Amino acid sequence: MFSTTWAQECRPAGRCVFWNPCALPQSNPATTTSSNDTIGSQPTRPGEDHMAETVVLQSLSGSRARAVRHTIADVQARSYVDAIATGNPFESTEAFMERFEVYSGMSGFSMVLAIIDGEAVGQAFGWPLGADTTWWTGLVLDAGQPATEEFTVEDGTKTYALSELMVDKKRTGYGIAGVLYRGLLADRTEQRMTWLVNPANQNAYAIYRHWGARRVGTLQPVWQGAPQFHVLIADPQA
Ligand SMILES: CC(C)(COP(=O)(O)OP(=O)(O)OC[C@H]1O[C@@H](n2cnc3c(N)ncnc32)[C@H](O)[C@@H]1OP(=O)(O)O)[C@@H](O)C(=O)NCCC(=O)NCCS
Repeated sequence: MFSTTWAQECRPAGRCVFWNPCALPQSNPATTTSSNDTIGSQPTRPGEDHMAETVVLQSLSGSRARAVRHTIADVQARSYVDAIATGNPFESTEAFMERFEVYSGMSGFSMVLAIIDGEAVGQAFGWPLGADTTWWTGLVLDAGQPATEEFTVEDGTKTYALSELMVDKKRTGYGIAGVLYRGLLADRTEQRMTWLVNPANQNAYAIYRHWGARRVGTLQPVWQGAPQFHVLIADPQA
């Protein structure tokens, strides 16, 4: 696939980080942002040689992300199609946006939006866990892990929490999640990253394992209707 090679070979040389306003949505609030780095690459389905389309990654701070919240909601609705169809209120776009309003205000919040031909097609966001984080509330560590107090102590430099990663269902299977994942984590300096996966989400779970994630425990967030997630840990630079 294209993304890792592209990011690792191009970014240190500074050649492939570019500003491409032509690729941003023409009638989308995202166009109102003005000075974000963007990253381009060629999405390719396994077995295909190439696609003509270029993915542009737009970096957003929390405030900029909230300024384009309608786009954020729309991408969630087009990505979590199957989960939304279950009728579980936790999976609804409305509930997602309630969480987004909280998450986007977290200190250090960072986000990337993937754009193809002016259309937002995927997004990922997260933030570093501070000393006062409630992220680990409800954590049950697996046997063999460190003591909970040791594992969960945070200072803002230890753990980056990947809160959400999603791709428009029509665009899945092209490597866009990989571009988002690597784009979001490219400049992270934390020692580890963590995120939650619903064990019923076998597709996402397989992808996360492919990226080197390992399960360390379980956690059920306090949000109403939240499932019991598996807690994953990985090296941000792996
Ligand atoms: C899960 C989701 C983000 C995947 O998006 P995607 O664009 O189809 O994923 P990609 O095509 O980028 O695949 C990601 C990587 O996993 C690999 N992969 C894909 N399916 C795989 C599988 N079954 N087993 C192992 N690896 C797999 C790909 O080759 C790719 O590898 P690379 O990054 O090294 O190139 C997307 O299906 C989605 O948004 N689902 C709904 C929302 C959701 O469930 N989000 C996750 C919540 S925990």
